[in-house]
Amino acid sequence: MSSRTENSGKHTPRLVVVISGRGRNLEAIIQAIEAGELAAEIALVISNRADAPGMQIARLAGLNCVCIEAGGFKHREDFDRALAARIAAARPDWVVLAGFMRILSQAFVERFEAKLINIHPSLLPRYKGLNTHERALSNGDARHGASVHFVTPDLDDGPTIRQGSIAVAADDTPETLAERVMTEVEQRLYPAVLAELVAGRVFFKDGVVWRDQRLQEDCPHDQYDRLAVT
Ligand code: GAR
Repeated sequence: MSSRTENSGKHTPRLVVVISGRGRNLEAIIQAIEAGELAAEIALVISNRADAPGMQIARLAGLNCVCIEAGGFKHREDFDRALAARIAAARPDWVVLAGFMRILSQAFVERFEAKLINIHPSLLPRYKGLNTHERALSNGDARHGASVHFVTPDLDDGPTIRQGSIAVAADDTPETLAERVMTEVEQRLYPAVLAELVAGRVFFKDGVVWRDQRLQEDCPHDQYDRLAVT
């Protein structure tokens, strides 16, 4: 299995996907490329954990993958520099954080500004950080979901590109809600946003997200949310 797209002489946008864990978002991105729904190739998968199940997904898909563990570095900045060098060597058009569970230094974020994106399992600005599903449930939220955003130096911050949401069920537990957000929102939303980005229909400039006007007319934000989860 390979996620490389046909090369018809045109540049195929190159993604570097950075993970720490299960890799279910990575899996959805691979599948979207293979299904022809995302015109990109995954140039490299990087994990900061050798035992991340997502590395096995990358290997099975025949992708280049590398592990850079923070334990080998004295300072956070040293790790970030090594990570940045490896990413830059892969010449990415987009750096896709997909469950990468480390805080990145300002220098790293600035180096990849406007091409660095992240998915977070909450409707930002609600619930930055960890345990988002528990927090949505304990606050009695009627809806919960995920956000894809450009990355700025603050944790789980930066301009939102798209969100997707589902209704919280009366009998949801943190586990069932997490699973539904993953399968019904994240795994649809991230490939869909990447497709928009690689097509140049959405971009980040002067601290603001810009969208293709036609896209807004065709597919207003509330409708897009519904499309993303049905
Ligand atoms: C996903 O739910 C993602 O949104 C979250 O980690 C999980 C990774 O799952 N990311 C964050 O919390 C970032 N702050 P995956 O490895 O199976 O894609």
